[in-house]
Amino acid sequence: AVLVARRAWSRLRWRRAVELLREFEEGCSTSIGRLRQLVDAMTVEMNAGLASDGASKLKMLLTFVDCLPDGKETGTYYALDLGGTNFRIFRVQLREKDSMILMHQVESYLIPQHLLMASSKDLFDFIAMKLKDFVDRVEEEYELDLRMELGFAFSFPVRQISVSSGALIRWTKGFAIADTIGKDVAQCLGDAIERRMLNMHVTALVNNTVGLLALGHYYDKDTVAAVVIGTGTNACYIESTEAIIKSQGLHTDSGGMVVSIEWGNFWSTHLPKTSYDIALDVESSNPHDQGFEKMISGMYLGDIVRRVLYRIAVECDVFGDAVCCLAVPFSLSTPMIAAMHEDDSPELSEVARILREDLHMLEVSSRARRLVVSVCDVVTRRAARLAAAGIVGILKKIGRAEDNSRTVIAMEGGLYVGYALFREYLNEAVIEILGEELAQNVVLNMFEDGSGIGAALVAAAYASKR
Ligand code: GLC
Repeated sequence: AVLVARRAWSRLRWRRAVELLREFEEGCSTSIGRLRQLVDAMTVEMNAGLASDGASKLKMLLTFVDCLPDGKETGTYYALDLGGTNFRIFRVQLREKDSMILMHQVESYLIPQHLLMASSKDLFDFIAMKLKDFVDRVEEEYELDLRMELGFAFSFPVRQISVSSGALIRWTKGFAIADTIGKDVAQCLGDAIERRMLNMHVTALVNNTVGLLALGHYYDKDTVAAVVIGTGTNACYIESTEAIIKSQGLHTDSGGMVVSIEWGNFWSTHLPKTSYDIALDVESSNPHDQGFEKMISGMYLGDIVRRVLYRIAVECDVFGDAVCCLAVPFSLSTPMIAAMHEDDSPELSEVARILREDLHMLEVSSRARRLVVSVCDVVTRRAARLAAAGIVGILKKIGRAEDNSRTVIAMEGGLYVGYALFREYLNEAVIEILGEELAQNVVLNMFEDGSGIGAALVAAAYASKR
């Protein structure tokens, strides 16, 4: 009798667990109809953001990049890429004629956690120190009076006043250094570099998407937009100055300017928001901001999965006793969910290993492991499809969603580059929204380190203009 009762109890628990999964799946629905509504909403919001500041959640930031490098640049340039979990330093050598990047060197550094909340000076001093070390190492000997040029890929919203200066509007992605807001970040970096007695000038200050667009365009002139899906997410594209109504009288030789959408802050009632998204937002360091980013990017996907699993664990007790790690925010990272999602072993042994080693969940049955994979799938699929809708939204805004000209979009970021299932879902959804025939003209070109190398290219283009 005890056994029978136990089985019945287990059935009940599992029924509830499956019910919670289904409810979540429904809440995350990205039907083609909904994706089309999001495409339209994205174009409407882009237009509103171009019409006047504050008219939309999309900032549509001017970048003052009105000409992209064309392959005629030569020389050696530096770049710094700050914006995610790591910051990276680049040295890029360019050769004329065959429009080639001769060589690039890159080094990646982890930013100590306490610096994300310290003072502006501490953060930039740390970066400048690493930069100085790097230069000392790679330049065997350099002349102190020879000025080096640097492109700064700074991946946060910035109100630019020129291609080499701009004030931080606010932090995203967990950075929270109050005294940087409103400051010219190029100058903050420049001052720190000077304190290190390095003869280096911040020639270009660009969003990472803008650096990526520069590199994409350098290799393929049909590249008109760039999308980053990493710790955070954003996109930029080439807009004609006439369409930037909020800056009347803006004139550039090319007739265009790169605009950084800051689409991470996109919001629409058509977005499939669940109770887990609401809780994540409320508990984040930037509540009510970056709604789109919180459904799409690497900083958050792992934590959405964790929240769903935790609820199932508490209500249904299907993961064994040791589930307390699931209660800890961010204990499940996006690389972990990618590895579990892509586990194709019959026993889901990688899922078991991650749950055991990283979350100390020792006795997760194979049925429960399948449930974990399903949750990862729902979260990742929704994210990828929402990003696809955003991309088609840009195409539509620039009149490329219905015509046959070849359109290239540069893509970068850990989620797109490092998570194959995410990439497949995204690519498939672009085809689904556009239709096979039109989608043939759209090329998504993948890069690694594109924003850093691209920032050096923008520095090269603008250094030669001075
Ligand atoms: C965040 C930043 C944005 C950046 C993106 C990708 O959304 O606000 O500027 O481009 O992350 O790193």
